[in-house]
Amino acid sequence: IAFIKYWGNRDEALRLPMNGSISMNLDGLFTRTAVTFDDALQVDELALNNQPVGGKALERVSRFLDIVRGMAGIDARASVVSMNNFPMGAGIASSASAFAALSLAAAHAAGLALTETELSRLARQGSGSASRSIPGGFVEWHAGDSDVTSFAESIASPEHFDLVDCIAIVEAQHKLVGSTEGHAVAGSSPLQAARVEDAPRRLAICREAILNRDFEKFANVVELDSNLMHAVMMTSTPALFYWQPASITVMKAISAWRQAGIPVCYTLDAGPNVHALCLADAAHEVETRLKEIPGIWQVMSARPGGPANLV
Ligand code: DP6
Repeated sequence: IAFIKYWGNRDEALRLPMNGSISMNLDGLFTRTAVTFDDALQVDELALNNQPVGGKALERVSRFLDIVRGMAGIDARASVVSMNNFPMGAGIASSASAFAALSLAAAHAAGLALTETELSRLARQGSGSASRSIPGGFVEWHAGDSDVTSFAESIASPEHFDLVDCIAIVEAQHKLVGSTEGHAVAGSSPLQAARVEDAPRRLAICREAILNRDFEKFANVVELDSNLMHAVMMTSTPALFYWQPASITVMKAISAWRQAGIPVCYTLDAGPNVHALCLADAAHEVETRLKEIPGIWQVMSARPGGPANLV
């Protein structure tokens, strides 16, 4: 989950962001991916959660595998078998998780021995946010200005800051407008320039709040960043509204709970589901309260997680 979001690429081909980004990996929510390069295959094959997939998703994976093939000097097609244990395309960063897993699995299957930084650079070319899902714990992605300078690294271990992400599932449906299309229109919002210009300030506050375990400071900057990103989405052409009525109900409830002394704040990615970030001691209370709100189907909780790894 991103605390300081990127949203909007400077260069669509390179997928370079306009600002850096800070996020936390989620423990227990994962993608498991197996890649096999096979000379007998005529085309790349993809199965997601036991379903064969073609079309745009396969094209995106194939384009990514071309990068790996180029790096390894091979040309065999591959079979990719992947599963997620959480809903896809619903604002829980499934493409971040998917492309981080694919990078590691494909690089390994192609015989490449890459460092964490090299893997993060590679993952970024599949999905921007995937660069952040390679290192463990709390992660900062440096925007950079090239394939080499744009990568993510860990700024604190998972144990450093005792946060829990209680994800209130408002809707598990696949969203209609994916992040990639959203990034492409972000620049059409007159608010995007102001949002990007202020990003280094928000990044610095968020980094410091995490390093000092200052929840109040963290909460304020995370909510501001989420609101700014959604303001850009709602004012781009076409306008993108990812929130559902229940999303707003939850945001308002979370603000009231914090005022009443519960250490919790919200952030939403490109989807209606609300990530309620709280200190671990408050997690049980937050989960219980979230489940009482009408329109919430399910609450999934996750702690800070480790790096992408081979299993
Ligand atoms: C809303 O990484 O999914 O999570 O690079 O086109 O694959 P592509 O986009 P993606 O965008 C994630 C956007 C976000 C905000 C964020 O995580 O910064």
